[in-house]
Amino acid sequence: MNLVLKPAETFREDYTARNSDAAILRFPFPFHEDKYMYSVNMEPHVPGGASPVYDAVFDLDEHYIGECVDRAITLADDPMRCFVMPHLIDAEWDTLELLMESLAKDYPEQFTLSKDGAAWHWVNRPLAIDQKFTFGDASTLPYPPFEFITRQVQGDFTLQDQRDNNLFVEGGMVTTQADWSLNFDAGMSFMEWHGPVPVAHQAGVFERALTYLLRLQYGKPVRRLNWTLTANPRLDTSPENYPIWGPEKTAITPENVGARLCLRVEVQTLTRLPRSNAILFGIRGYLIRLEELTRVPKWARRMHRVIRDLHPEIAAYKGMTGYRQIIVDHLAAFDDGAATSPGT
Ligand code: HEM
Repeated sequence: MNLVLKPAETFREDYTARNSDAAILRFPFPFHEDKYMYSVNMEPHVPGGASPVYDAVFDLDEHYIGECVDRAITLADDPMRCFVMPHLIDAEWDTLELLMESLAKDYPEQFTLSKDGAAWHWVNRPLAIDQKFTFGDASTLPYPPFEFITRQVQGDFTLQDQRDNNLFVEGGMVTTQADWSLNFDAGMSFMEWHGPVPVAHQAGVFERALTYLLRLQYGKPVRRLNWTLTANPRLDTSPENYPIWGPEKTAITPENVGARLCLRVEVQTLTRLPRSNAILFGIRGYLIRLEELTRVPKWARRMHRVIRDLHPEIAAYKGMTGYRQIIVDHLAAFDDGAATSPGT
C-alpha cells in the first residue's frame, strides 16, 4: 500500500496538522444519508468500501509520525493512559502479533517482521525502531508487549475480556479519546461503560451489539463508524485534560469555525484474539477541519442537514450545544437544498 508520510505535525498548542488533498479525499465521511441516529452499525472488516481507509487491516496515513509523537507526549505526562490488567498477558502478545503481522503485510516498505521460532525481529523504519526479542518473554522488550506495539500504531486500542456472558474493559492504550477515561472505565462491563450514552439504551442498541460481539469469531473482524466534533485537530480530548481543551470549544466563533472546528470520525474495529479469547477494540480517529470538509460539496450539504436535525440529547452528549448554531449557520451556505441519494 502506498504510504507517504509527513514529518511530525502538532496536534496541540499551535496545531500545525492539516490534511493534504489526498487525505481529504480518503476521509471516511460517516453519513450515508441526510440524518443520523444510533444503530448497531457493524459490518465485516474486509478490504474495500467507500474509502481506501478500509484497505488495510489497521490503516496508517500521512499523519503517522506526528500521531506517534503526540502519543509519546501524552504518555510521558500520564503513564496510566496505557495499562493492561495482569490476567490479560496473553491478549498483550495476541495484540503484538496481530499488529506486527498486519503492518508488515500491508506496509512492507515501512515495516518488516522476521521470525525464527520464538526469536522475532521487528523493524519499523519511519520510527527508526529495530528490535530483536523473544515472543512470550516480556523481559526482552523495552516496554510491555501491548504498550510496545500500540506506541507504534495510529489510534487507540482497548482489550475486553469475555466471561459471564459479558465483556469487561481491562486494558488499553487510550491517548486520543473523545472525552472518556480508560482509568475511570477500567473493569466495567459493556453496559456499564456505555452508561452515559443517551437514546441508544432505550432503543436496544447496546443489547443487540453485545449479543453480536459475544459471538464474534476469530478471523472474522468487524468494524463500525462513530463520530463527534472537536475544536482544533486535538488528539488528546480526555476528561483528565479538559481544562486545556474545554476553553478551546468556547472560543469557536462564526469567523473561526471553518478553520478550527473538526469533524472527528472513528473507524472502530473489533477482533477476536486467538490465545486469550479477548476482543481487541481499535479506535482509529480521523480529523478534518470544516474548511477542508466543505471542499467536497456533497459532504458539506449533508453535514449541514445532519447537524441541523440531530436529536437534541445526542447533540448535547457530543458536547456541541454551545456552538451547534454557529456550525449550522456556517454550513447552510453550502446547502443548495438539492435532493440527495443514499451513500457517501
Ligand atoms: C460510546 C467504548 C463497542 C456504540 C462509547 C464510549 C466508550 C465506548 C468508552 C463513551 C462512553 C462515555 O460517554 O463515557 C466501547 C468499547 C467497545 C465498544 C470499549 C468494545 C467492545 C461498541 C459497539 C457499539 C457501540 C459494538 C455498537 C452499537 C457506542 C455508541 C456510543 C458509544 C453509539 C456513543 C458515541 C457518540 O455518540 O459519540 N463506547 N464501545 N460501542 N459506543 Fe461504544
